[in-house]
Amino acid sequence: MSEFKRVLVTAALPYANGPVHIGHLAGCYIPADIYVRYQRAQKRDVKFVGGSDEHGVPITIRAMKEGVTPQQIVDKYHEQIKQSLGQMGISFDIYSRTTSPVHHKTAADFFKKLFDEGLFEERESEQYYDEKANMFLADRYIVGTCPVCSNDNAYGDQCERCGSALSPDQLINPRSTLSDVVPVKKKTKHWYFPLQDYESFLKKWILEDHTEWKNNVFGQCKSWLDNGLQPRAMTRDSNWGIKVPLPDAEGKVLYVWFDAPIGYISATKELTENWADYWCKEDTKLVHFIGKDNIVFHCIIFPAMLKAHGNFVLPDNVPANEFLNIEGDKVSTSRNWAVWVHEYVKDFPGCEDVLRYVLCANAPENKDNDFTWKDFQDRNNNELASIFGNFINRTFVLMHKLCEGKVPRLHTDVLDEKDKGIIADIEAAKGKVQTALEHYRFRDALYEVIDLSRKGNKYMQEKEPWILAKSLTQIFPKEEAETIAQKSIDNCLHLCLQLTANLSILINPFLPATAGKMTYMMKVVERMLDWENAGRIDLLKPGYALRAPEILFRKIEDAEIEAQIQKLKAGVAETAKTIEQVSTAPISIIKPEIQFDDFAKIDLRTGVILSAEKVAKADKLLKLEIDLGYEKRTIVSGIALHHAPETIVGKRVVVVANLAPRKMRGIESNGMILMAENSDGKLIFVNSDTEVANGSSVS
Ligand code: MF3
Ligand code: ZN
Repeated sequence: MSEFKRVLVTAALPYANGPVHIGHLAGCYIPADIYVRYQRAQKRDVKFVGGSDEHGVPITIRAMKEGVTPQQIVDKYHEQIKQSLGQMGISFDIYSRTTSPVHHKTAADFFKKLFDEGLFEERESEQYYDEKANMFLADRYIVGTCPVCSNDNAYGDQCERCGSALSPDQLINPRSTLSDVVPVKKKTKHWYFPLQDYESFLKKWILEDHTEWKNNVFGQCKSWLDNGLQPRAMTRDSNWGIKVPLPDAEGKVLYVWFDAPIGYISATKELTENWADYWCKEDTKLVHFIGKDNIVFHCIIFPAMLKAHGNFVLPDNVPANEFLNIEGDKVSTSRNWAVWVHEYVKDFPGCEDVLRYVLCANAPENKDNDFTWKDFQDRNNNELASIFGNFINRTFVLMHKLCEGKVPRLHTDVLDEKDKGIIADIEAAKGKVQTALEHYRFRDALYEVIDLSRKGNKYMQEKEPWILAKSLTQIFPKEEAETIAQKSIDNCLHLCLQLTANLSILINPFLPATAGKMTYMMKVVERMLDWENAGRIDLLKPGYALRAPEILFRKIEDAEIEAQIQKLKAGVAETAKTIEQVSTAPISIIKPEIQFDDFAKIDLRTGVILSAEKVAKADKLLKLEIDLGYEKRTIVSGIALHHAPETIVGKRVVVVANLAPRKMRGIESNGMILMAENSDGKLIFVNSDTEVANGSSVS
């Protein structure tokens, strides 16, 4: 550690396409926050940056599903996520967003620099395109039959039934998940980053120089590197994202995994004008906290980008966590199998530290782990309340009862083995917690803190100051035995109070609100929580009056746990119902934004259908005669499956009057009528009862 002058900590930028759940917290925000708070307590120069990931396919899909624009989606969820993380005490120095102007410029400049150096390879390829949704399909949004196990719902990148990694071309009968149509192949041009050129650099940097990385991280990196790296497209066809900063790149944006990690740099720029110290000086320790699905991007792709750009430090460590399951099942946001943070803080007000505790004590540090509400209750009731909270409460109660509410003296002449033992425990705890924290072993670190309070309980139980107190008379002068008993009581409570002060320092990175309550009870300033004070047994001065104890952790009742389990199950059932309803209705695809001038070119007119007849050999088409007031028009319209010709004569319609003529089945069609598609997919007339003159212009 000593060789580093400053620490820059990042936590994965969550997609602003939904609220955060406890898997996000356990995966990266809680460990990152613990690490940062510990660094601050060490008085190191540390910055903690984060923000919302607001580009990419997940956002556009969500926008389509909710029938709103991507901007509305990210505005909504950015605020909600920021608030939830704040409520959980995640203490970012800045929580920014990738739609910020600083970020757009930073990412575009980054791309431009690599482009100007001739780094990208321009390539044309054929990709699946959804003609109804008007967009190229990311692999995840194509489904079809798995060539290996015949699962009908395999994704374009993977079959979740047999686990095979797939490419969209391998799917039998591919279809688009957006509109259910059969996608077509379409040519498109993109800019590829030559990842393979960085293979030997990455091999040395990770496999030789960073053997200390966590096994799960190191292992994933090794398998990527052993399999050989391929060029990777760094652009996408989309109208949502950072525009490719090149002249001939209409409709192209930066690949979200190109822009998002640069978000860490942009956020640091927004935070401080000294941002370059944190990104460009070799004596910065850069640490990325992420979940395991982000490993390749943070350990391979982003470092290669930074290396290609030059001038940037590389991460010293990427302590990724595995996944947290819930009640034995994988988290699924689409199925609503998740514990949402904004709901937790509502249901358990004042219990934010309890969740921090459980998610750290049970963190998926080396393998996937399971969150259960029963375990949550047990850990709160049996560890936080019965061990940690109980020790502090007893200490305060006895100090008020036996020592007039003041810190008693330490009488070194009568220290016994038990006293010496607990002093040694206090001194040793600091080192144990610190070593574990420096090595990203947060569970172990937290265990050591609780273990120290457990030792405190045992010590007090063995010393039994309340029994000694019974032997004391109120009469002076006291006998020698009585004096020794009094000294022994003093020593016990003195040491229990010093132990309490130590616990507040050690627990502070993990449970900051609890540490705050403890400093209040001890009437000490926040500075006492500095790490350098841990291990000391002179933190509270003899004679100093302390406040009354407050209960740090209340018991959590069976009924509360039962309610949460019910809520989880009800959430899944409810979501399954709405998915069924929604999936019968076609998703309305939001088209790219247009300027007013584009809109103004369309001449919309009202008209009345004078006659309608079927078009021969075309089941979908009707030939309509329309009265526009100033003229009559022939329009061929694809509504035959929805309306019998005789039923629509006399209906009022809105017509696109200046659409270029087009021949259909030999009939020239002069314009188009506007219809709406209802949730059954039927085309219906809109506003057909409006009383206006034919030929009125519509706007
Ligand atoms: N939004 C991504 C996810 O949730 C994480 C992006 S991390 C960043 O998986 F580095 F790219 F920002
Ligand atoms: Zn399969």
